[in-house]
Amino acid sequence: MEKTREVAKHGRLLLVPCPYQGHINPMLNLATYLHRNGFSITIAHTSFNSPNPNRHPEFTFICLNDCLADDLVASLDIAILLLTVNNNCKASLEEAMATVLRDVVCVIHDEIMTFCAEVASSFGVRSLVLRTNSVSTCIGRSVVLQLHAEGRLPLLDQGFMEDEVPNLHPLRYKDLPISAFSDISQSTKLVHKMHDLTTSSGVIWNTIPFLEPSEFTKFKANICNQIPIFAIGPIHKISPTSSSSSLLNEDYTCLPWLHKQPPNSVIYVSLGSVALLTNHELQEMAWGLVNSNQPFLCVVRPGSVRGSDGIGFVLEEFQKKAGDRGCIVEWAPQKEVLAHRAVGGFLSHCGWNSTLESLSEGVPMLCKPYSGDQRGNARYISCVWRVGLTLEGHELKRNEVEKGIRKLMVEEEGRKMRERAMDFKRRIEDCLREGGSCSRNLRELVDFIMSS
Ligand code: UDX
Repeated sequence: MEKTREVAKHGRLLLVPCPYQGHINPMLNLATYLHRNGFSITIAHTSFNSPNPNRHPEFTFICLNDCLADDLVASLDIAILLLTVNNNCKASLEEAMATVLRDVVCVIHDEIMTFCAEVASSFGVRSLVLRTNSVSTCIGRSVVLQLHAEGRLPLLDQGFMEDEVPNLHPLRYKDLPISAFSDISQSTKLVHKMHDLTTSSGVIWNTIPFLEPSEFTKFKANICNQIPIFAIGPIHKISPTSSSSSLLNEDYTCLPWLHKQPPNSVIYVSLGSVALLTNHELQEMAWGLVNSNQPFLCVVRPGSVRGSDGIGFVLEEFQKKAGDRGCIVEWAPQKEVLAHRAVGGFLSHCGWNSTLESLSEGVPMLCKPYSGDQRGNARYISCVWRVGLTLEGHELKRNEVEKGIRKLMVEEEGRKMRERAMDFKRRIEDCLREGGSCSRNLRELVDFIMSS
């Protein structure tokens, strides 16, 4: 009782994540931090991909009516799905704000859940947007909107894909954040809504200012200087003992396997929560890993291989070829894995969470980006921060995977990347300490919310 009174002293916050793993994780980490700093927390979520309330008994959960049948969720283009979520959930949020959520002092919503800003504003409540990717991605999206307005999208097969976009160094046209899975007119419609900050009181950003200082200056100067920005990344480090918000069960059996491997010897492989690969690509990746002669821990997410017929057989063969040198799981406790002393490299799709999690542990990356912001992230990893290298082709090829792993894990070039990655780890630790950017900006965020 005493405890409840104490944590509720600053009022109730409503947090609305976008229903995908790469968005749920940062939002629930932020929720844990804010709860520990005296706020009551309600999480409003869709019925599909809903977080597990049993893992977070300290929060209240409400389910918004997304009116989406499971088969529709699986079949819709992702931009259309997200636009539909925005349309369908609005009424049920309005109803909740008028009844059970009357005590909410501030709404924090994922940038994709744009309806929340409108609803909050109509109730006279302040709202803050949480951005779960880089500032550079946001600037890149403005360019995408401009190209769309000029009728220049889609960009496929035009001669300038390898050229740098003017004023966007180091991004080339092919690195622009364009979804590979969505209709261009629908995804730009969504981005338009995401860029509209007219009813927002501020932006919370899961990024670290020292990673992209000139991009911050540019964003403030050209896009938004009217409202405060709180760069509180890396969010996964701000509430270290928070419960997992994983939608899939993490397979902890890989940890005893890691304990048996020498320091910095293991290449960890994960392509995140959305990317899909073909059966052929899976086999090329498997052979590349086996031929590299390095120990590896590989995540093959259920449903991540298109046309999964015969996938069981491929995985069996893969494990047989690798023997004790390989560990294959469906979903890993990624943060623990990256922090393990045995892990010396990360073959990654370069989602923004994975990028920050890897940098925070000083693990260099072999990048295989697929869609959206991932190509741009890979470009920063390889060319700006120089803590990794990128597999440039469209498809994974076994000899390139093998060569990339050897370069990263055993050659001089990889050793230098690891040194630079370790330097990032130290700088990130400084950001998290008292007086560092992360702890300072978090304190400002709490003060800002309390001034509502
Ligand atoms: C998507 C986009 O791909 C990404 O670019 C965008 O920034 C966020 O949404 P996703 O594929 O989910 O991201 O990748 P990422 O951003 O890296 O997030 C994945 C999360 O799942 C990470 O927090 C990671 O730790 C976690 N994870 C991944 C696991 O816990 N276990 C795994 O086996 C794999």
